[in-house]
Amino acid sequence: MKQIFRKLALAAMLMAAPSLMSAANNKPGDFTVGDKTFLLNGQPFIVKAAEVHYPRIPRPYWEHRIKMCKALGMNAICIYIFWNIHEQQEGVFDFTGNNDVAEFCRLAQKNGMYVIVRPGPYVCAEWEMGGLPWWLLKKKDIKLRERDPYFMERVKIFEEKVGEQLADLTIQNGGPIIMIQVENEYGSYGEDKPYVSEIRDCLREIYRPTPLPHREGPGEGLLLFQCDWSSNFTKNGLDDLVWTMNFGTGANIDDQFRRLGELRPNAPKMCSEFWSGWFDKWGARHETRPAKDMVEGMDEMLSKGISFSLYMTHGGTSFGHWAGANSPGFAPDVTSYDYDAPINEYGLATPKFWELRKMMEKYNDGKKMPAVPKAPMPIITVPKFQLTEFAPLISAITKPVNGAIKTFEEMDMGWGTMMYSTRLPEITSQSVLSGEFHDFAQVFIDKKYIGKIDRVKNEKSLTLPAVKKGAELIIIVEGMGRINFGRAIKDFKGIVGNVTLTTETDEAEIVLTPKNWMNVAIPDDYETAKNALDMVKGVNDQMTAGKVKGSVPALALTQGYEGSKKLADIMKPGYHRGYFTLKKVGDTFLNFETWGKGQVYVNGHAMGRIWSIGPQQTLYVPGCWLKKGKNEVIVLDVVGPREAVVWGQAEPELNKLQLEKSNKHNNIGDKPDLNSATPAATGAFKAGNGWQTIKFNGQKKGRFLAIECLSTQKNGDRVAIAELYLQGTDGKRISREPWKTKYANSEDESGNHLGDKVFDLQESTYWQTEKSASMPHLIVIDLGSVQTVTALEYLPRAEQGAPGSVKDFKIYLY
Ligand code: GLA
Ligand code: CA
Repeated sequence: MKQIFRKLALAAMLMAAPSLMSAANNKPGDFTVGDKTFLLNGQPFIVKAAEVHYPRIPRPYWEHRIKMCKALGMNAICIYIFWNIHEQQEGVFDFTGNNDVAEFCRLAQKNGMYVIVRPGPYVCAEWEMGGLPWWLLKKKDIKLRERDPYFMERVKIFEEKVGEQLADLTIQNGGPIIMIQVENEYGSYGEDKPYVSEIRDCLREIYRPTPLPHREGPGEGLLLFQCDWSSNFTKNGLDDLVWTMNFGTGANIDDQFRRLGELRPNAPKMCSEFWSGWFDKWGARHETRPAKDMVEGMDEMLSKGISFSLYMTHGGTSFGHWAGANSPGFAPDVTSYDYDAPINEYGLATPKFWELRKMMEKYNDGKKMPAVPKAPMPIITVPKFQLTEFAPLISAITKPVNGAIKTFEEMDMGWGTMMYSTRLPEITSQSVLSGEFHDFAQVFIDKKYIGKIDRVKNEKSLTLPAVKKGAELIIIVEGMGRINFGRAIKDFKGIVGNVTLTTETDEAEIVLTPKNWMNVAIPDDYETAKNALDMVKGVNDQMTAGKVKGSVPALALTQGYEGSKKLADIMKPGYHRGYFTLKKVGDTFLNFETWGKGQVYVNGHAMGRIWSIGPQQTLYVPGCWLKKGKNEVIVLDVVGPREAVVWGQAEPELNKLQLEKSNKHNNIGDKPDLNSATPAATGAFKAGNGWQTIKFNGQKKGRFLAIECLSTQKNGDRVAIAELYLQGTDGKRISREPWKTKYANSEDESGNHLGDKVFDLQESTYWQTEKSASMPHLIVIDLGSVQTVTALEYLPRAEQGAPGSVKDFKIYLY
C-alpha cells in the first residue's frame, strides 16, 4: 500500500514537473539484456559508469561529485552499500544524513544519471572488513560469506532494510537504478554456488518484477549481475545472472573477455571495475597509474561497444576508522582513498580527468559535453597552531574487566584501543613475550616503555628484561581496520589468544602463561576523547583554584604537552586538543607529520587515521565541516608526537614516507648460495598473458622457494611477475598466508613493485626489478614452514604483451 502511494506521489510530481523527465528521469522503464548488448527500454545501451562511494564524500558535496562524473561523459553512477556503516549496532539501522543512500540516488537521477547498486553483503573496497559489521564476530565460530545460519539471517534483514530505501527507485518504478550486483568477486574467496545463489534469491525477491504500465504482465524485474576476474569467474558463475569482468588499466581487453565470449557468445560485455589507479597502504609509496593506459583502455572498450564502470572515478576519503586492510600479511590502508582517480580526493579535476574527458567526447553522440561544475568550496590554509591540552589515554579508562584476556569483540567494542595489564612473578633473566597482537602493541613494564609489536611488520614477539616479583606488565593495543580481502576477513582485534613469556636456561625452556588480566576497552569515538580531555581540564581548573592538590592527569594538563614529556612513558599515549580560528571557511589539508599514530577529530567529525610512517601525512578536512570562528581539533596519539603542532596546507601530502628502514629485501646475508643446489625445475615460460603451470619432477620439499630469472621474452633485463602459487601433493594451491619475501636482488620501490606483490592475491600488482638492474634476477620466498610441493603456477604482468615476462628460469626449493 505504502509503495503504491509513493508511486502515485511520484507520478503526480512528474506531471507537475515535466522538465525533470530528461534522459534518466522518472518514467517507468526497463533495462535488460539483448543480443551482445544491454537494452534500455528496448534500445541498445552502453553503460559508462563512474564508481563513487557516498560515505566517502561529505553529503553537502554529493551533488558536486555527481556533476563532475557527468562532466566526464558518464551516464551512470556505480555505488557500493557498506553494510557496516548502516548497521553499526546489530538491529539498529541508519539511512539518514551521510548514510541517506536513497537521497544520493535521487540526486543522481536529478542529474540525469542512472545508478548501479552493489549491496554486498560483502564489498571489499578497502573498507573495514569489506563492509561486514564487526559485531558478526561476537559469534566466534561464524562463517562469513557462507551459508552460516546466523550470517544469512543478518544478511537478509540488512538487504531488506536496503530494499525499503531503494526498491522504489528501480527503473521499473521510474527510478534511476538499472542493475544490482550479487555478492562481490566471490571467485577470489572460494567456490560456493549455493551461497551465491541464496544471495541472488534474496535480492531477486526484494527487487522483484513489477507490472509495467507500458507492457502487459509483469516485467523482468531489476537486472542482476555478478562480477569476477577473467581467471576465475566460472567458479561461481550462475546461469541466470549477467557476468561482468574486473581488471585494471593496461590490461589486454580482448584477453579479458575471451573466455566470456567463448561461453556466452551473445552476452553483452562489461568491465564492472576498470581500475583507474590503486589504493595506498601504510608504509608504502603512493600508488599511481598512467592516464594514458586508462584512457586508451576505455577508448578501446567504447570502440568495441563494451560497457564499463571506472573504479574509482572519484575515490574520496575513508573517514574515521573505516579504512580496511589487505592480506596476506596485514597491510592496513591509509585514510585517503584518492586512488589516483581522475577526480581527486577533494573533488577537483586532475590532468587524468581532462585527458579522459577529451576521449569521452568522441562517444557523446556529437553532443556538447556537460559542463564541469565549480567547486563547492575554496581551498584555504591554516597557520601553524599548538595543541596545548593533554589527557593521558589512561584517564579515559572505565569499566575494567578482570580475568582471562579478551578481544575487542568480547569486550563489545568495535574500534579503538585496549589496555591489558597483569602482575608478573620474578623472572631473573630476559624473556620473550609472544602472542597475536592486532594490530599495534606497545609494551610497558612498571610504566616504562619496552618496545612495540607491529602486525604490519609481521611481528609477534618482543624481548623483555628480567623483572622483579609483582612487576606490572601493561600492553596497549591499538586496532586498525579489519582485513577486507581474502579468507583473513575474520579479523578479531586486540590480543587474540594467550600471551606467553618464554625463558630459556641451559636445561629447559620455561613458558609462563599469565591468566589474570585486567582488560580495559577505550573506544574510538569523539565522546570518549572529549570526556577524557574535559575531565582532566576539570581537575586542572579546580587545582588552579586551589581546591585540589596536583594529581598526575592534572599535571599533564597544567603543563600541557611539554609537561607530558616529563611523565612516565605510560602517560604518553593520549589525547591532545587545540583550536584554530577561521575568518573564511574552505577545504584544507591538516598536516600531522610531527605526530606518532592515531586518530583525528575535527569539530566532532572523525577525520581518519594518521601514522608518521606515511605515505599520507595530511588529512583532507572538508570545509563543510568547518565553521567561521573557533574550530576544535582532537588527536588521539597512541605513541606521542615529536611536536604537538598542526597546520593546514593547500595541497595534500600523500607520498612522504618516514620509515625506520626501506622496505626492500636486498640484505645480502639473506641471499642463498644456490651454486651447489639442484633445481626443482629448469626451463622456459611461454610468452604472453595468463597463468602457466610448471610441474616439478616429482615431489619437492623445502621451506624456501627461489626463482632465478635468466632471461626475458623480449631480451630486456627488467623482470616482472604478478602472482605465484605452489601446488601441494594433492595438486591444489597451498596457502600463501604465511609467505614472506626473504630476498630479491632488485625491487622497483618507487612504483611499489616489491617482492611481496607476487603473493598479494591481486593479479594487477607485480614484483618488478629496477630499470638499472641486470640479469640474472632472483626472488626468494619464505613459505613459513617446510612444505612438500609438486608444481609452480606463474602469472606474468597483466598488461598487454606481459611486459617483463620471464623466459628461462631455474626454480629451487630448499
Ligand atoms: C576489487 C574489489 C573492489 C576493490 C578493488 C581494488 O576489484 O571488488 O572492491 O577492492 O578490488 O581497489
Ligand atoms: Ca600481485
